[in-house]
Amino acid sequence: MVLRVGRRVRVFGDLERASAALARELAHDAAAAVRAHGRFRWVISGGRTPLPLYAMLADAHRSGFPWAETEVFFADERCVPPDDPQSNFGAAWGTFLSRVPIPRRRIHRMLGELRPRSEAADRYARLLGPLPHPGGDAPLFDAVLLGIGPDGHTASLFPGHSAVRERKRAVVATAPGSLPPPVPRLTLTLPALSSARKVVFLVAGSDKVSAISQILRSGAKGNPRWPASLVRPAGTTEWFLDRAAAAGVPAAGRTSR
Ligand code: 6PG
Repeated sequence: MVLRVGRRVRVFGDLERASAALARELAHDAAAAVRAHGRFRWVISGGRTPLPLYAMLADAHRSGFPWAETEVFFADERCVPPDDPQSNFGAAWGTFLSRVPIPRRRIHRMLGELRPRSEAADRYARLLGPLPHPGGDAPLFDAVLLGIGPDGHTASLFPGHSAVRERKRAVVATAPGSLPPPVPRLTLTLPALSSARKVVFLVAGSDKVSAISQILRSGAKGNPRWPASLVRPAGTTEWFLDRAAAAGVPAAGRTSR
């Protein structure tokens, strides 16, 4: 049984420190997952924010992390080929996946280059298998790493898009959001992102202050205006923030480092 153990907000002096703490926590979680069920099933995210974390995993945690038992999935992908500079897979591959001893067959990229895009989404959904019962004892993922945009999007779930309302499919194709890059996307949906023992949001920068305040204040059900507030795992949700991003978070609700 995965218990809902709530939310923790941690604030660090800068993104480097937040990333270093998160890298240590991931190494710990991965080892625990491997002890418990032989595998660490981990969803990673695109965007710029996780790049220092990825580099640290490849450098400081190249040994000591159970790479051989780690399985990597993607929260979303831009619909471009994997060698395009906009590709989330390309960025993750360049910063860490190509540099750690993880079996290639356990790196599951979304096929951003495949057309029709709906077929790429369906293939990824088949790879994941059926969506488990929410709150059940076998979620799809051990950990999901996410970022947010200033508009409150997460993965490629943009405010007002039908992908935010999807409840049956685990993966969908979606139109570009209002923020760059203006390319169509493939994205895990809310029920897939929420099927996790732990969800971690890593967020940095003052342009995210307003979105973070809205998301953290959006109540038990969340608010569709801020899609990140609708990710509701049965397990823990953790926020790793740098000081700039945390400017609107009341001191009472955070743990500072
Ligand atoms: C993507 C994402 C997206 C990202 C946020 C934050 O493909 O762009 O996965 O959800 O995490 O937009 O991006 P930054 O870290 O670049 O601010």
